[in-house]
Amino acid sequence: MKKWILTMAASVLLVSGCQTGGEEAKGTNHQEKNHQARESTTPKAEKFTFNQIKEVSGKKVITNPENVLVLVNKEYNLPEGYAPKDLVRPAVKFSFGDEKIEKSLMRKEAAEALEKMFAAAAKDGVYLYAVSGYRSYNRQVAVFNNEMANSGKAKANQAVATPGQSEHQTGLAIDISGKSVGFLLTDSFENTKEGQWLAKHAHEYGFILRYPKGKEAITGYQFEPWHYRYVGVEAAKKIYENGWTLEEFYRNYGKM
Ligand code: DAL
Ligand code: ZN
Repeated sequence: MKKWILTMAASVLLVSGCQTGGEEAKGTNHQEKNHQARESTTPKAEKFTFNQIKEVSGKKVITNPENVLVLVNKEYNLPEGYAPKDLVRPAVKFSFGDEKIEKSLMRKEAAEALEKMFAAAAKDGVYLYAVSGYRSYNRQVAVFNNEMANSGKAKANQAVATPGQSEHQTGLAIDISGKSVGFLLTDSFENTKEGQWLAKHAHEYGFILRYPKGKEAITGYQFEPWHYRYVGVEAAKKIYENGWTLEEFYRNYGKM
């Protein structure tokens, strides 16, 4: 019975797909028309690629870390020694000036989107500064140990990812600040015009606010108004419009 309903639904979509082909479909042969119709029945989630996982010593390790939608968190680990192959320095302003350092890098697609986003903000009179992008596994070890020494284990775990579990290692994350908060990564960035511009517009460029206020139990991290993650425009819009985190996008839209 269920199968029959599904078949019926698919044929309705196939038919409507053919009809809406309209003028554009003119002149194409029947096979091409059928192909177009089949595409219109493809579930939306298939447009996106989700984590592929293998278990290593009880740990979930991501086997497709180069996926722009990769979900890295306290559950899903990057493979040991993973470093993206297409790191470049985006042509934007950095809080530390022109220094050629690791944290000025991002993956190419994310870097290009960042350039567009910063240029659009500047057109609105909002001047954004990149503070920290790519972070290697070894660098994350140093950042994590430093936070442990300064704040203790419990606080460090809310603020800094364990090495292998940081989005910064994917080259798709970027910490952003502005002059009004002295280029610092601080909670008060939320109330600056830079922070507010980003919260409103980042999704238009494929970025999401990765650790939102009120979602700490889902993301596993405290609110970080400065940390943006590139996921591509289509996913970013879905996440923004639904008020989701990346975890919720996976849960509601994906297969995991
Ligand atoms: N601050 C974020 C969670 C990181 O360390 O990747
Ligand atoms: Zn960050």
